[in-house]
Amino acid sequence: MKRIQHADSMRSWAEEQRSLHKTIGFVPTMGALHAGHLSLADAAVRDNDLGVASIFVNPTQFSPHEDFNQYPRPLEKDLAKLEAAGIAAVYMPTVVAMYPRDYSTYVNVDNVSEGLCGGSRPHFFRGVATVVTKLFNAVKPHRAYFGQKDAQQCAVIKRMVRDLDMGIEIVEMPIVREPDGLAMSSRNAYLTSEDRKRALCLSRALFDAEKKLKKGERDGEVLMRGIRDTMRDVEIDYVALVDAETMQPVRETIRPVVLAVAAFLPTARLIDNIKFDPNTDDAGSQRGSGR
Ligand code: PAF
Repeated sequence: MKRIQHADSMRSWAEEQRSLHKTIGFVPTMGALHAGHLSLADAAVRDNDLGVASIFVNPTQFSPHEDFNQYPRPLEKDLAKLEAAGIAAVYMPTVVAMYPRDYSTYVNVDNVSEGLCGGSRPHFFRGVATVVTKLFNAVKPHRAYFGQKDAQQCAVIKRMVRDLDMGIEIVEMPIVREPDGLAMSSRNAYLTSEDRKRALCLSRALFDAEKKLKKGERDGEVLMRGIRDTMRDVEIDYVALVDAETMQPVRETIRPVVLAVAAFLPTARLIDNIKFDPNTDDAGSQRGSGR
């Protein structure tokens, strides 16, 4: 597996592969890899001639009071996992190279970025859209893989790729969960055992709502009331029913929707969601799909 640090070297390697008609599947990450990331790497390797991953803890998507410094960075373990998954090259730029002192250019995706995580983390999506654009410019992928756990991030990236004619296929992969339902996240590592138990109310609340949806409940207020009730022991950031494409709030489940929740536990802020398409009765909670 090649380790590449500089954008120029990454781009030359990608251009050479493209000139040989190889397809590139890309998995952008901030490291601290878990089974959710590895499901993206597996798909990238399986569906393309070459799988490429990046590891970069991106400072522009953290607010000053957030956990940028504390974010776990188990680099050698991450590299071993990517190599075992069959990834051909890992792009690992430095912060100084990505953002020199006079760095001035940002990508803003309006509307889709507003509300939900954009409401409580105002820097977040500008930072994500900017870094993903930079990573795409270096890696030159045909397809890029993102997890449904960050449903709003997926919607933002899809909108950005469409609006800026990037010509990259965005593949959204199902949430991978622990056997007890907790959605996998690098930040789960922060949880004390007490918080880990309380965190289970997020997925439990969503699974209950999913059952109601499958039985025909379409009223957002009823679904959200039930979720808030199950989450009464944690500090709720948001509970929302939104259109799966626009991320705008909806009252009823007529088109594909996302039921999304976020909560502050003493040791971490957690998010989770389910997708539901009333036309196919298909829920995307991926219960019990832990590896
Ligand atoms: O989902 C993540 O890990 C990050 O937001 C991403 C897409 C790698 C950008 O830094």
